[in-house]
Amino acid sequence: MSVLSTLMGMMQSDAAGQAAAGAAEAAAPAGEAAKAAAQAIEIAPTVYPGPAPTDLYWLPEPVSVTTESVDWLYYGVLGLSYFCFIGITIAVIYFVLKYRKRPGHDQAQPSPSHNNPLEITWTVIPAIICVFLFLFGWRGYIDVATPPEHALEIQITGQKWFWTVKYPNGYNDPNNELHVPVNRSVRLIMTSNDVLHSFFIPVFRVKQDVVPRRYTELWFKATKPGVYRVYCAEYCGKDHSQMKTVVVVHEPGGYQKYLERVDEAENAGPADVKTGEKVYNQFCIACHTLDGSARVGPSFKNLVMGSDHKMTDGSMVKVDENYLKESILDPMAKIRDGYPPGMTPFKGVLSDKKIDSVILFIKSLNQAE
Ligand code: CUA
Repeated sequence: MSVLSTLMGMMQSDAAGQAAAGAAEAAAPAGEAAKAAAQAIEIAPTVYPGPAPTDLYWLPEPVSVTTESVDWLYYGVLGLSYFCFIGITIAVIYFVLKYRKRPGHDQAQPSPSHNNPLEITWTVIPAIICVFLFLFGWRGYIDVATPPEHALEIQITGQKWFWTVKYPNGYNDPNNELHVPVNRSVRLIMTSNDVLHSFFIPVFRVKQDVVPRRYTELWFKATKPGVYRVYCAEYCGKDHSQMKTVVVVHEPGGYQKYLERVDEAENAGPADVKTGEKVYNQFCIACHTLDGSARVGPSFKNLVMGSDHKMTDGSMVKVDENYLKESILDPMAKIRDGYPPGMTPFKGVLSDKKIDSVILFIKSLNQAE
């Protein structure tokens, strides 16, 4: 009864919240609403539909090209175990009954100490079985451990207690999910920001440790569109059990469309300093400091708008937005005096919004002076 009333209470407060949100929306002027819409394109998290009913009795439905060898081996070993278990149990029961103590049979009989044919049989047959298991296991391992060339590469970072997924277009998945196309080999390049984790996709029959300060890899080729579970399979602390997500296998063309949506969401709304700081921490921090000290490149501090900077060819360049943008997209165009021409171009890596944001961020650093 109390559970029911709690539930009712939750539903009511939920409804009240929705009503309040609706009222706020109605109260906001149309222009404000449009602005809010332009600022954020939300990509809703994917709902995991739950395991298939057959998953209760069998291994989860296999949906990758390398699952066959794993499953055959697993069911083979399981079958052998059943066979031995049942055989031994029947033999034990049979012998217990046959040689039980009963009138006329109470004298223990000496058992044979050695029997060559028997010993050879029970050595050779298991040895042959072991060799076959090894061969199948080895072949399966080679399949699972060798990603094909030209696989689609996606980067995975594990940290307490979530996975970050970074696509080839440079964007992180907005919901920390893994989206992949069907019938395409995918290679995951994985590392950890803190402790050991393990990336485990049961339907693909792949599991790989994710280790700090080194890369490990995993590959699969999904054969059926759908939404499947991803787990962390290495105990990594308090919320290890919560460190799960989904892999979404898209129909042909769906993956590209999804990436375009991610791209759109990334670029929706105006540039802002906060986004710029994120971009700085992700892309610029290795070479450019904020405290005035020189690293590979000049510091972002004292990069004052309107000041003149000397270039390696002796010319002077006035610092403005155009100069900053050009230096991000095509760093070789103008090289600051005293620094090596070592920066990689960010053309195609950073969106216009991100470039504008990082310029705003640089300007915000030097506003006070
Ligand atoms: Cu990460 Cu367990």
